Amino acid sequence: MITTTQVQKKGNQFPNEIVDFKQERDRLYFTTKNGVILELTVLRDSVIRFRYATEYVFEPDFSYAISDDVSLGFNSLEVEDGKLEYLITTSKLRIYINKGNLKVKITDLEGTIINEDETGFHWEENFDYGGNIVKMSKVTQSAESYYGMGDKASHTNLKGKRANNWVTDQYAFGKDQEPLYKAIPFYVGLHNDLAYGIFFDNSFSTYFDFAHERRNVTSFWADGGEMNYYFFFGPKMSQVVEAYTNLTGVPELPPLWALGFHQSKWSYFPEKKVKQIANTFRKLKIPCDAIYLDIDYMDGFRCFTWDNRRFPDPKRMVKELEEIGFKTITMIDPGIKIDRDYWVYQEAMENDYFCKRADGPHFKGKVWPGECKFPDFTNPAVREWWADLYKEMIADVGVHGVWNDMNEPAIMDVPSKTANLDVRHDYDGHRCSHRKAHNVYGMQMVRATFEGLKKYTFPKRPFVLTRAAYSGTQRYCATWTGDNVATWEHLWIANVQAQRMCMSGYSFIGSDIGGFAEQPNGELFARWIQLGIFHPFCRVHSSGDHGDQEPWSFGKEITDIVRKFIELRYELLPYIYTMFYKYVNDGLPMLKSLVFYDQEDSQTHFRTDEFIFGDQILVCPVQEPNAQGRRMYIPRGKWYNYWTDEVVEGGDEKWVAAGIDKIPIFVKEGAIVPKYPVQQYVGEKELTELKLDVYYKDGTENSMVYEDQHEGYDYKKGRFSLRKFRLRGKPKELIVQQFKDGSYITPYNKLRLQFHGLPFTIKKIELDNEKVDLKSVKLNGNNNIEISKDFTELHLFGA
Ligand code: GLC
Repeated sequence: MITTTQVQKKGNQFPNEIVDFKQERDRLYFTTKNGVILELTVLRDSVIRFRYATEYVFEPDFSYAISDDVSLGFNSLEVEDGKLEYLITTSKLRIYINKGNLKVKITDLEGTIINEDETGFHWEENFDYGGNIVKMSKVTQSAESYYGMGDKASHTNLKGKRANNWVTDQYAFGKDQEPLYKAIPFYVGLHNDLAYGIFFDNSFSTYFDFAHERRNVTSFWADGGEMNYYFFFGPKMSQVVEAYTNLTGVPELPPLWALGFHQSKWSYFPEKKVKQIANTFRKLKIPCDAIYLDIDYMDGFRCFTWDNRRFPDPKRMVKELEEIGFKTITMIDPGIKIDRDYWVYQEAMENDYFCKRADGPHFKGKVWPGECKFPDFTNPAVREWWADLYKEMIADVGVHGVWNDMNEPAIMDVPSKTANLDVRHDYDGHRCSHRKAHNVYGMQMVRATFEGLKKYTFPKRPFVLTRAAYSGTQRYCATWTGDNVATWEHLWIANVQAQRMCMSGYSFIGSDIGGFAEQPNGELFARWIQLGIFHPFCRVHSSGDHGDQEPWSFGKEITDIVRKFIELRYELLPYIYTMFYKYVNDGLPMLKSLVFYDQEDSQTHFRTDEFIFGDQILVCPVQEPNAQGRRMYIPRGKWYNYWTDEVVEGGDEKWVAAGIDKIPIFVKEGAIVPKYPVQQYVGEKELTELKLDVYYKDGTENSMVYEDQHEGYDYKKGRFSLRKFRLRGKPKELIVQQFKDGSYITPYNKLRLQFHGLPFTIKKIELDNEKVDLKSVKLNGNNNIEISKDFTELHLFGA
């Protein structure tokens, strides 16, 4: 890795005056006298791509990050040739390009500066590298804040920090440690209530400085490659994240069981142990949908093999686990053991699929199986082969999901922790070194795994998990935050990492609940479960070195608390599935940091702990031992304390009670929260009703519930059910309107509405303008109504 200070440099070079301009439809080219070309592309009115060439030459335009489904198209594009600058106007933005130095300034249509170059594009002719290091520097606006950047273990607001994106196996990483497992070079800037985003799509090691070195400058640069970034304008953060997510893609809907609770350990073996764990979940009535087999299920860590002593008949075992509602997930690593008698090794050798050093021989590195070679997943033929390797495991043995680990790639016993930088890669025909391919290596591996699982689990949906990722990896799989530690600080880290990943387009995220390294005590485990059930991916995993980490490993009190919260997760499954639907459909993060939720409230700009789960539930983990509660910020508006139904007015910090059996949870007033009955696993029970928790509001609020078969692809043909609810409350009335879309008939037609905070006693009920007998709707007490018929309007009248 090259740092700006270590190397011999000729010094920075800067573009000088523009001598040529040309336009090709949505692309504008500005050429300077000293050979810099800025290619500016208008993708949407508020999404602009900036690409710079030096010495008049662009590199071939290719990126793994960009989705095939990106929306393109704008309403207007005008270019004015001014005296000192070119002015480009879209229906959302004005972009000024300085004729003397190529500097860029972007304003909204009112003229407020959103983003402007400080030095702007410049480059260093780096003699050590033997090429150019491209750089960009921007003005930090007053009170500007920065968010996003993937899995950084730092305060949600990155102002004053530096970041490095180089995917790294960072065992037992610490707070603020860099770099970590993922490279997501995307950030959101916020100032003057305007949000914008920048995605530096460069797969080399990238660096960001958020007003750290100089207070008024934010800059980014890379160890090679082009200055190539996308600019997204909000003004709302949601619009920025939506646009970035649209550009880099979203996953398909997962099977619903993937959103249940998962249990893992390094490692459960032999078969008897796996069964014993699964049976204990059922015996203790703790819901669980999946159990993981870590590397020890393999024969000497050879991928795609089984240790026949530990697992004599995997197909039977997988089936028997399935009969008690467990899905089996297996681990697959990239390193292929060097072994002439091993079929995967043979096939890769015969087909020339392994990565090579620049001088010719294969790259070798040590991982679990000892010396390994590494398939070049950036070669499409290798990906196709790799996808097909899953045939037996998935189609024949019946394994339900795969977990790709060590795909940075992680290499043992070398200081770099990874492959040599001279290793060659195909990069889909754009041959390059590991310097460029490193950050996408794991992504391309998991992409191939996804293709394989998609093919062999069909007509069901695949489930894949990755550790390493580059921007866009969210299209293929869920991810976890890697090898964390069982400490209170890591509980804090898990919370910010999950929020940050969601802000960076990657919502299907979770941490190793309880911590991977070392051993939590019961209290820490319970507090981590309380947070973990609110993460999109919810799995306990541990290194197993220090003892057990199952829900029952910490005594009865903790077991009961853990059960209660996993049960809550299962009740909330329709809410979580709807969150996922919105993520897939609208690109909206499943978890929202408070600043995302209410950017106009400057009190949210530096909050780290509280977040919104979906759109309407506020959660704040307890992150200290012996706490009976905590202080937390409640965002503006009125919120119901989930445990007491007490209504609080937000906009302030408050003390919230939360002994060891509670976590602060608040529901937004007016929300309608769907719930299933508790099941031991997804699909255990035939669903006969949907419970709706209706939180009264004097005013209006919208909610929705998305349903489909929870499996398969019929939903893509319209077989889904989308119920949109509009709640309107007045002092003595409450109206709930329902609008339905999609052709899927839910297994239940009964809705059980549980009213919270109704300020009146129900005297009269009308369904679709017809009065209904209070008895016939089963009015239980004052606030629980069962309705077994479709309705478009429910009207309650109070006395
Ligand atoms: C890595 C993974 C961890 C796994 C272990 C053994 O450390 O991050 O989750 O248990 O390897 O496979």
